[in-house]
Amino acid sequence: MSAHDDGAAGDARGIGTRLAHTARRPADHHGFVNTPIHRGSTVLFPTLDALEGAMRGDTRRGPYIYGLIGNPNARELESMLAQLDGGAGAVVVQSGLAAVSVALLSMLGAGDHLLMTDSCYGPTRWLCTAVLPRMGIETTFYDPRIGAGIDAHFRPNTRLVFLESPGSLTFEVQDVPAIARAARARGVSTAIDNTWATPLRMRPVEHGVDIVVHALTKYQSGNSDILLGAVVARDEEHWKRVKQAAEWHGHYAHPDDCSTCLRGMRSLEVRLARHEASALEVARWLEARPEVARVLHPALPSHPDHAVWKRDFSGSSGLFGCVLRPHAAGREHTRAFLEGLRYFGMGFSWGGFESLVVASDVRASRAVVPWTDEGALLRFQIGLEDPRDLTADLAQAFERAR
Ligand SMILES: Cc1ncc(COP(=O)(O)O)c(C=O)c1O
Repeated sequence: MSAHDDGAAGDARGIGTRLAHTARRPADHHGFVNTPIHRGSTVLFPTLDALEGAMRGDTRRGPYIYGLIGNPNARELESMLAQLDGGAGAVVVQSGLAAVSVALLSMLGAGDHLLMTDSCYGPTRWLCTAVLPRMGIETTFYDPRIGAGIDAHFRPNTRLVFLESPGSLTFEVQDVPAIARAARARGVSTAIDNTWATPLRMRPVEHGVDIVVHALTKYQSGNSDILLGAVVARDEEHWKRVKQAAEWHGHYAHPDDCSTCLRGMRSLEVRLARHEASALEVARWLEARPEVARVLHPALPSHPDHAVWKRDFSGSSGLFGCVLRPHAAGREHTRAFLEGLRYFGMGFSWGGFESLVVASDVRASRAVVPWTDEGALLRFQIGLEDPRDLTADLAQAFERAR
């Protein structure tokens, strides 16, 4: 490996090799494999020229200026993220939700119009309904399955179309290329929350998307022990807007967290393969259960968007949903099922080593496409446990909840 191996654009090496060998510089750190953590705010300059030169430099490559604007740990992680997505640059921020907010605020201002998928993550919806209107930004929610039909929703002041595919509670897969094409034809930018797929399963930039959001809290860090987010920009113009929005709002990613996340990413390929295989095993098992009305997993042929998923994704991850058949005991039945589980923790987030389940009621939040299923909507995050133990756990919970 060379001392400065940042994985050039079009890098043909396998993903495991790139995850292991890019974004580290042992020769700069006495040979230590991993970069030490650089905590700090102030950066000292030996001369006035050096200080002024740093201020004019490119924060992706130039001298460091101030802790808020960049440090070696954030920059390494950003370089890894940009090369994985095939983007011009990345910015890491303190959470996935902060990354969503940076993506929105990088493109939108007073008088602008936003098109937001109706399947978006809950707090993304709250940003649109509670925060953006105070800034004079109007949101129209659209059917996630709209595809090229998005064209009918553009207004003269539409600046951004935001996608999330699949939706992280309801799992609709969007026709990303069709939406990106329609937006580009109108000179409108696109952004996507790609947390479910990660760049290992789908690279939205290759489908024409301008801005990619990741909650690194999930698979990239992989251990449920940090919060972190990133925004990757396709080209220089979007990169400048994203970087300014993050920096000028004071967003920041702690170097400890950047280092922890990069450590997680070294093993992302193998972890994701295990999450994927186990999730498919559990999803297929659930599909055969009489208590289950339908399983929401895009990689199953029964999923209504399976063909779109197959066309655009190279695989799946560990998060999927299912709808239980309506039960006479209603919520008490759901409670008995959830509280009887041994290996599935009840809690938010996903992408960690441990399995989780949450029940959600999306009926009140949908703006365009009503959610009509009557049975309980459950979301499973399948961790790294033995899937046979997970299905046995689910079987006993179904028995107890009868
Ligand atoms: C799809 C999606 N996007 C963004 C986020 C926000 O990530 P974070 O928890 O790091 O703020 C989440 C969190 O659950 C999510 O599920």
